Amino acid sequence: MTVVDLEAVMKLLSEERVRRGLSLEEVARHAGWANESIPRRLEHSGTNPTLRSVQRYAQAIGAELNISLAGTRVISFFNHAGGVGKSSAARDLGYVLARLGFKVLLIDADPQANLTAWLGVREEVALQQTLYPAVIDEPDSLSLPEPLEVHGLHLIPSTLDLARLEPQLIGVIMGVTRLRMAIRRLSEYDFVMIDPPPSLGQLSALAVIASEYVVVPVPTNVKGFEGVKTVVQMVQEFRQAAPELKLAMFLLTHHDERTRHDRESEESMREQLTSLAPVSSPLRYRPAIYKDASLAGLPVPLYAPRGKADEEIRTVAGELLEALEVKVHV
Ligand SMILES: Nc1ncnc2c1ncn2[C@@H]1O[C@H](COP(=O)(O)OP(=O)(O)OP(=O)(O)O)[C@@H](O)[C@H]1O
Ligand SMILES: [Mg+2]
Repeated sequence: MTVVDLEAVMKLLSEERVRRGLSLEEVARHAGWANESIPRRLEHSGTNPTLRSVQRYAQAIGAELNISLAGTRVISFFNHAGGVGKSSAARDLGYVLARLGFKVLLIDADPQANLTAWLGVREEVALQQTLYPAVIDEPDSLSLPEPLEVHGLHLIPSTLDLARLEPQLIGVIMGVTRLRMAIRRLSEYDFVMIDPPPSLGQLSALAVIASEYVVVPVPTNVKGFEGVKTVVQMVQEFRQAAPELKLAMFLLTHHDERTRHDRESEESMREQLTSLAPVSSPLRYRPAIYKDASLAGLPVPLYAPRGKADEEIRTVAGELLEALEVKVHV
């Protein structure tokens, strides 16, 4: 069972509690909670529990809950095509993983700074708050700046000025590997997710070379499919600087299941891409909700919890964890 279905995990755990003859009061006492209302609420469906509280409950009843997550997973949402859903995916999947209790750092590597804006950061961002100093300023200390905290996520924001980095990077020795080195120094995160710009320039190279995994958002249409070939070739090229780089998933986006064109595209993508990497369930084309959530500066699962879009995003988050071999066993 993947970690995403925490309510199902709670159901198994509560059955286990009953089997072991433990009362809710005993569970609360073992877990160090004030009273039995906390485990009672966790057992109730629809409470959207966090991974941490589920872990605490499991420990209190003496059940084993194994989460195989060692070290930090660094993921880029990469596709040089514009508007395919990279920034939305980083925001929404990052949020879902953080809600599950994982520590998540998002890095906005795009001077358009959409990810930054869509997480509700309205104040002006200085270049020193971005990934810029880690790459350019300090040749000896490759530290990233202190991140912002938004909706339970950490964020290294971006600003239009980050575009200055591209021409400068060429003059920096090993410049394109600098973000990789800076991220390797972080140890507190379960996931680092990078949102590159829609290009094959230096910023994209910087992001992908810093990653171990690439998720490729791709719309379910012929144009989307055509672009995948270049993305796959580029990933191959980036492996020269990042030998362990893996294609983690093709993330199907902007899917309009009412049109035959989209249905057929989805089918051919599954047929032809599955040998390269898992192909996700589709995220449906829902212009109103994505636009409204972005304007509100909120991840879709926070803007419209339990809606259809939220459900799709959680399904994809589960598939991503599976692709990354992150599992929970009770
Ligand atoms: N499933 C969806 N349904 C409808 N609209 C969507 C969906 N996902 C994203 N969008 C919208 O499509 C536009 C492009 O999405 P997004 O910015 O996430 O893509 P991107 O690949 O990061 O774009 P860019 O290449 O400009 O960085 C945005 O306006 C976003 O709100
Ligand atoms: Mg983007």
